[in-house]
Amino acid sequence: MVALDPASFERIVFFTGAGMSAESGVPTYRGHGGVWKQYNWEEYACQDAFDRDPEKVMEFHEVRRKSVLACPPHEGHRVIARLEMNHPGITVVTQNIDGMHQRAGSRNILELHGSLWRLRCPIHGVFEDTGETYERFRCEHCDSRLRPDIVWFGDSLDPEVIRLSVEAIARCNLFISIGTSGVVWPAAGYPEIARKNGALCIEINPEPNPMSHLYDEAVRLPAGEALPVLFSNR
Ligand code: OAD
Repeated sequence: MVALDPASFERIVFFTGAGMSAESGVPTYRGHGGVWKQYNWEEYACQDAFDRDPEKVMEFHEVRRKSVLACPPHEGHRVIARLEMNHPGITVVTQNIDGMHQRAGSRNILELHGSLWRLRCPIHGVFEDTGETYERFRCEHCDSRLRPDIVWFGDSLDPEVIRLSVEAIARCNLFISIGTSGVVWPAAGYPEIARKNGALCIEINPEPNPMSHLYDEAVRLPAGEALPVLFSNR
């Protein structure tokens, strides 16, 4: 693996998935021990499930909040956050809802699938709610039930977040995908957008996946090992 000099890339996008948080102890979705192996998303992660049994869905998300809070960011998260402090052109585009990049100190983050740490009222919009358990379940203005501000199965992604992500990826010179199986759209199309701009595309993932051929280089190591080496020249 060659070490990269971030100064030679004007704009860098780190595109992260569940594998980015795996070494912190947050389970991935599809692999061994994955969230969707343990839980049926139709019971816990769609609007129908919430309409049927909101308490059950909120409890599931509280369990996830507790388990994420028990997991510390790892060196890979910190490498990205430190790079951002010295480089104005860094964007993190993440499919993760766990807030680990923020806890490590990253600030320029686009969360494609929302966040475990926000709630949404259908009328009054989005509220931060960051404790281990939810502070409230109903909107203080209109008493509507609040749901997690997460893109569940069947939900649409926020068009503004997609627009900003595509813009960042289409303009970047270095695109580093970390820990995603690459199968969920629109994220699955992102490496091609980066390639069109001639960006150097690097995949960090111990396992290959159906999108791996789109990358110039594959680093078959866990994120927490690969990132400190890849950016040891910084
Ligand atoms: P997946 O669970 O589909 O894939 C996780 C990827 O991380 C796999 O390719 C693993 O090989 C890789 N991986 C595991 N450990 C790693 C490590 N230490 N370092 C680097 N890579 C590692 O997760 P995502 O691709 O993020 O959506 O899944 C995309 C979306 O599908 C999620 O955001 C979630 C899910 O349904 C929602 O919940 C809306």
